[in-house]
Amino acid sequence: MEYTNFGNTGLRVSRVGLGCGGHSRLGLFSGSESVARGVVKHALDLGINFYDTARIYGTEHVVGDVLFAERQHCVFSTKTLVLDRNGNFISPDQIIRSLEKSLSRLRTDYIDIFNLHGVRPKELEFCLQNYIEPLLKEVDKGKIRYLGVTELFEEDTSHMMLEKALDQDIFDSVMVGFNLLNPSARKKIFPICDERKVGTQVMFAVRRALSDYDRTNRAIAGLLEQDEVDKSLIDEGNPLGFVFENQDVGSIVEAAYRFCSREFGVDLVLVGTGSKDHLSNNVDAINSDALPKEILERLEMLFGEVSSVSGD
Ligand SMILES: NC(=O)c1ccc[n+]([C@@H]2O[C@H](COP(=O)([O-])OP(=O)(O)OC[C@H]3O[C@@H](n4cnc5c(N)ncnc54)[C@H](OP(=O)(O)O)[C@@H]3O)[C@@H](O)[C@H]2O)c1
Repeated sequence: MEYTNFGNTGLRVSRVGLGCGGHSRLGLFSGSESVARGVVKHALDLGINFYDTARIYGTEHVVGDVLFAERQHCVFSTKTLVLDRNGNFISPDQIIRSLEKSLSRLRTDYIDIFNLHGVRPKELEFCLQNYIEPLLKEVDKGKIRYLGVTELFEEDTSHMMLEKALDQDIFDSVMVGFNLLNPSARKKIFPICDERKVGTQVMFAVRRALSDYDRTNRAIAGLLEQDEVDKSLIDEGNPLGFVFENQDVGSIVEAAYRFCSREFGVDLVLVGTGSKDHLSNNVDAINSDALPKEILERLEMLFGEVSSVSGD
């Protein structure tokens, strides 16, 4: 496993983070709690030390239980939503209560990275005005080490919220959507994070659209329909055929993770899965070389300007 420095935090993190949410939620979505525990244990065995979860995923207790004895060697990232079920902002007290519940479920005294979860552009200002001061008090108490924010990439596919958030010197970590169909973070987010030494976690590397080749083709057909991609540059019957002409690339999932892992400015790539085999394969992909230059250039020509899809 490769490790790297996470922004300016001093945390040394594996370049693969275990994403304990997404559609798989460690396998809890379709499997059982023992499947989820097995995936976390397997991640530890593979050398993964970064675990991203959230109150809403229902997986904090699995992470806390399985990693209890290894706590000091692991980095825990968790999150609180900022809206209640009715779409109203929760109070600063509720944010702190959410933190307390996360501490208890993760069976720990401190959260390494505490994130405001899925913040929309129009919600950011309220969050900054109302939540940061109370959260910084928790940093002073030692219950939080670093503050982070995650975008709602499904809606905010061009990173409007993160662009604004990075104007402020508040967040030590951002979680940003990035994949080969929408690489817009390359210009908008990674250079700023690099300059300010903010840690970057990539999500949506695969999600649904890149989890098998038929789905990928359907996603690309959608982009062609919306004139987001130049038809004259693409073989509509086999749009990513050129990726597999190179013997070096085995599957669309492998290509998708490799696309993200060697991107300048990316500290770690989150992998969400309920399968130990998938996790092993994805760790190999993320730790392997960048995609060949000619493939990267062609992907850039096709999708380099796309910022309208998340790949969900
Ligand atoms: N706004 C936010 O804060 C936010 C939003 C979304 C996600 N996140 C975080 O980001 C993490 C990563 O996102 P994600 O979970 O959507 O992850 P992802 O890694 O982009 O995609 C995971 C999906 O791909 C499938 N997959 C993974 N490896 C595969 C393989 N080798 N072959 C075939 N299918 C494979 C998984 O299904 P299997 O279970 O079958 O492997 C899963 O459904 C989440 O877990 C969560 O921690 C945060």
